[in-house]
Amino acid sequence: MSHTATVRRSVVLKRRPDDVPRREHFEIREDAVPQPAPGEVVTRTIWLSIDPYMRGRLREQQTYAQPVNPGDVMTGETVGEVIASAHPDFAAGDVAVGARGWQTHSVTPGERLVKLPRHAAPLSAYLGVLGMPGATAYRGISEICQPKKGETVVVSAASGAVGSVAGQLVKRAGARVVGVAGGAEKCLWVQDSLGFDDCVDHRALDLRAELAAACPDGIDAYFENVGGAVQAAVFDLLNPFARVAMCGMVSQYNEAEFPPGPNLGFVVGKRVTIQGFIVSDKPEKIAEWRKLAAPWVADGSLVYREDTHEGLDAAPDALAGILGGRNFGKMLVRVGPDPLA
Ligand SMILES: NC(=O)c1ccc[n+]([C@@H]2O[C@H](COP(=O)([O-])OP(=O)(O)OC[C@H]3O[C@@H](n4cnc5c(N)ncnc54)[C@H](OP(=O)(O)O)[C@@H]3O)[C@@H](O)[C@H]2O)c1
Repeated sequence: MSHTATVRRSVVLKRRPDDVPRREHFEIREDAVPQPAPGEVVTRTIWLSIDPYMRGRLREQQTYAQPVNPGDVMTGETVGEVIASAHPDFAAGDVAVGARGWQTHSVTPGERLVKLPRHAAPLSAYLGVLGMPGATAYRGISEICQPKKGETVVVSAASGAVGSVAGQLVKRAGARVVGVAGGAEKCLWVQDSLGFDDCVDHRALDLRAELAAACPDGIDAYFENVGGAVQAAVFDLLNPFARVAMCGMVSQYNEAEFPPGPNLGFVVGKRVTIQGFIVSDKPEKIAEWRKLAAPWVADGSLVYREDTHEGLDAAPDALAGILGGRNFGKMLVRVGPDPLA
């Protein structure tokens, strides 16, 4: 059992991928489970979050965050259980969320961890619906899309961690929401379980025609998660004064060079607001979102779905999967036993 393990296993970047990240780009490093220095906390990892942004960290260029370099432990958010603490706010048995990477154990300054309540929600939820992806949806919808009754809002990657929450927030605001997702099964779930008004399969032969049929009054706001062909189809249908929350463009993350962008000249003519944002610009919004959404998760009115891979060694495949649409819901790796599951 990893509770009593003396060996720590970490997934380290071996070399940068040119396209899809694969197992061969990573290697496992083993060392001793560390002891905490004053102010530090040692945790064993229970849940590891797999997120599309991780592909960006594998590029050499620095973006809004530092790249992961060969030899570095792969970056990632985790929920873990404290096994040793030299910080006054943490004791063995506490559970906490933080950015501690793809590893079975980590040593972290206590200030970088957020202690979690034990029984308010499943621990994995703090990496998805009640964590960074949920807060991302909350910010993009409340600050940028700002849906109003009678409007039509489109959300891409609608069955995913961010998109599934974004669409449900649109419905709570009383607007009509149309999802875009890959395949009939995802589209059905988006409509039947999440309550979207419609959902278009982006692999449809005529995506533009299907989207136009689903949005007869045009599109007043777009929550952008994918870019590429979906973005082109949505942009054609934007109404004057539409708002676009540029959250991500996962369709191009594996490309060595990004394709020439769309001609954005129409943004001027239609006075469209397109705003990029990064969830970590306002870290306090994650706690605000957690407080707001926890009762909705508890009463089942905020629906979420998780796609779980087993064991740390599965992390590279999980990352390739999320970039290729082979996840159905929030992608997670179960690294160690969950005391609440
Ligand atoms: N700005 C921020 O602070 C912030 C924070 C978190 C996430 N994000 C972004 O939000 C987006 C969603 O992230 P997530 O964590 O919720 O992931 P996710 O939606 O759970 O998983 C990614 C999904 O993207 C879709 N996809 C992949 N390739 C595609 C393609 N070529 N065309 C269309 N869809 C494709 C797939 O769904 P289908 O099978 O339905 O195509 C896949 O399931 C990403 O762009 C991510 O980078 C941004």
